[in-house]
Amino acid sequence: MLKLMLLLYALVLAQAGAHLHRVPIYRQKNFVKTQDNIRAEVAFVRAKYGAVSAISTAAANSTTNTTNLPKEQLVNDVNMEYYGIITIGTPPQTFNVLFDTGSSNLWVPSIQCASPSCQDHMSFNPTLSTTYRYTNEMITLEYGSGGMSGFLGIDVINVSGLVVANQTFGLATTELNNTFVRDGFDGILGMGYASLAVDNVVPPFYNMLAQGLIANPVFSFYLARNGTSQQGGELIFGGSDPSLYKGSMTYADITQQNYWQFNMDSATLNGQVLCTNCAAIADTGTSLLVAPTDIYNKIKVVLGVNTDDTIDCSNTSNMPTFLFTIGGKVFGVPNSAYIISTDTGCILGVSGMESQFWILGDVFLGQYYSEFDLGKNRIGFASVSGMNYTTGGGASNRKQLRLLEFAALLAVFWKVLDYIN
Ligand SMILES: *[C@@H]1O[C@H](CO)[C@@H](O)[C@H](O)[C@H]1NC(C)=O
Ligand SMILES: *[C@@H]1O[C@H](CO)[C@@H](O)[C@H](O)[C@H]1NC(C)=O
Ligand SMILES: *[C@@H]1O[C@H](CO)[C@@H](O)[C@H](O)[C@H]1NC(C)=O
Ligand SMILES: *[C@@H]1O[C@H](CO)[C@@H](O)[C@H](O)[C@H]1NC(C)=O
Ligand SMILES: *[C@@H]1O[C@H](CO)[C@@H](O)[C@H](O)[C@H]1NC(C)=O
Ligand SMILES: *[C@@H]1O[C@H](CO)[C@@H](O)[C@H](O)[C@H]1NC(C)=O
Ligand SMILES: *[C@@H]1O[C@H](CO)[C@@H](O)[C@H](O)[C@H]1NC(C)=O
Ligand SMILES: *[C@@H]1O[C@H](CO)[C@@H](O)[C@H](O)[C@H]1NC(C)=O
Repeated sequence: MLKLMLLLYALVLAQAGAHLHRVPIYRQKNFVKTQDNIRAEVAFVRAKYGAVSAISTAAANSTTNTTNLPKEQLVNDVNMEYYGIITIGTPPQTFNVLFDTGSSNLWVPSIQCASPSCQDHMSFNPTLSTTYRYTNEMITLEYGSGGMSGFLGIDVINVSGLVVANQTFGLATTELNNTFVRDGFDGILGMGYASLAVDNVVPPFYNMLAQGLIANPVFSFYLARNGTSQQGGELIFGGSDPSLYKGSMTYADITQQNYWQFNMDSATLNGQVLCTNCAAIADTGTSLLVAPTDIYNKIKVVLGVNTDDTIDCSNTSNMPTFLFTIGGKVFGVPNSAYIISTDTGCILGVSGMESQFWILGDVFLGQYYSEFDLGKNRIGFASVSGMNYTTGGGASNRKQLRLLEFAALLAVFWKVLDYIN
């Protein structure tokens, strides 16, 4: 009897896991945060979202020496801390890519690219791939005063065992103004809606669905902000893993299908309501939390931030938690998540932009498990097991995680028993 139960149990487990495809997410090695590269990221994010002036108002009014800004602003090594591995072509050529929910194109450097940022990254050689197909189409992805331009090619890509045939992707022949120098990734794999894709290229996730590689049109992210191992989390295709989060997902409907845009019920800080029914997008390709400019100005007053966005490090422990209410649930972002301590002091991981929406980057997403549901056009968030209002993945959290896993196993056992009876 016990044997039968164990067998059934194993079958149930295998079934449950079968539709989830796991992709390890890595963190950039030797990752150093400096005030300059936080500012550089602010500029990059603004450029990404088409905000007109590339240099932040804070930087323009800054008392610090901004001589280096135009050069620094696009050296974007703060932005993309997390990346994963894919291969392109036959035999496979390997690339680190940023899985970016804030854009919708896949691109990597081409072997023909002589730009400095191509030189220190992996590049794709079409002549070495037997499955590669040429196109006549060009592509340009602009990020303010930088970005990439090149041509489109078609080949097979392999994302941790999900083998996508006929994927059209960009091959950069120029990466302008050192946009991607020093980045931990070679290229970007966009995971936004297809409507956002430049040149109407079908994004990889849509091809995975069309080719029947994943059963459910859902992917989910867990981005660890803390931990000693280089693995910084997991991207799961085909659903989410309840053993990685606490309780149930809280969902919000997508209000505009290009970015993953939705409405938050409210955002408050230190008892002050910053906005109600606030538009927001979830962007894994941004480390910052970005607020519309008028709201950002309120935030600066509440937190007592210096004009150049720096904060006195000695006065950060009392700073209030951002409370975002989404789908009726409160999601907190504590000071440990939004204050970034750098080599030269503390700086806010929150910025302002002339946009109509908030951008929830890794400062927020690193605190929660997030689920992107293309089938139901909704986004879900849940507390990471053992984490609510806290960062950290310490021993006690891991213990808690084990307990939860154990509880989940027990639940499966009961289900099997029910089934037998
Ligand atoms: C710089 O600060 C001044 C005075 O505080 C303000 O009037 C001006 O609008 C600021 N400029 C920018 C670009 O933010
Ligand atoms: C700012 O920095 C640049 C180069 O780092 C230097 O040449 C310039 O003298 C500095 N300007 C001021 C006002 O300190
Ligand atoms: C590169 O940056 C420089 C200075 O910031 C700017 O003048 C130039 O237009 C940029 N190049 C491109 C192609 O955007
Ligand atoms: C795809 O990549 C996985 C490793 O991530 C590998 O095990 C598998 O053999 C690859 N499949 C093909 C068809 O290349
Ligand atoms: C890929 O394209 C080739 C050539 O057009 C076609 O024969 C093949 O069926 C396509 N494969 C998939 C999975 O779409
Ligand atoms: C310390 O932080 C509190 C709360 O954010 C703020 O009101 C106060 O002005 C700060 N004090 C200094 C000296 O920065
Ligand atoms: C976190 O805990 C607070 C207080 O217990 C609760 O109000 C909030 O809903 C929790 N958030 C999540 C996402 O579980
Ligand atoms: C992780 O977070 C805890 C507190 O939340 C901190 O004590 C520890 O130093 C952090 N570890 C790393 C590697 O950042």
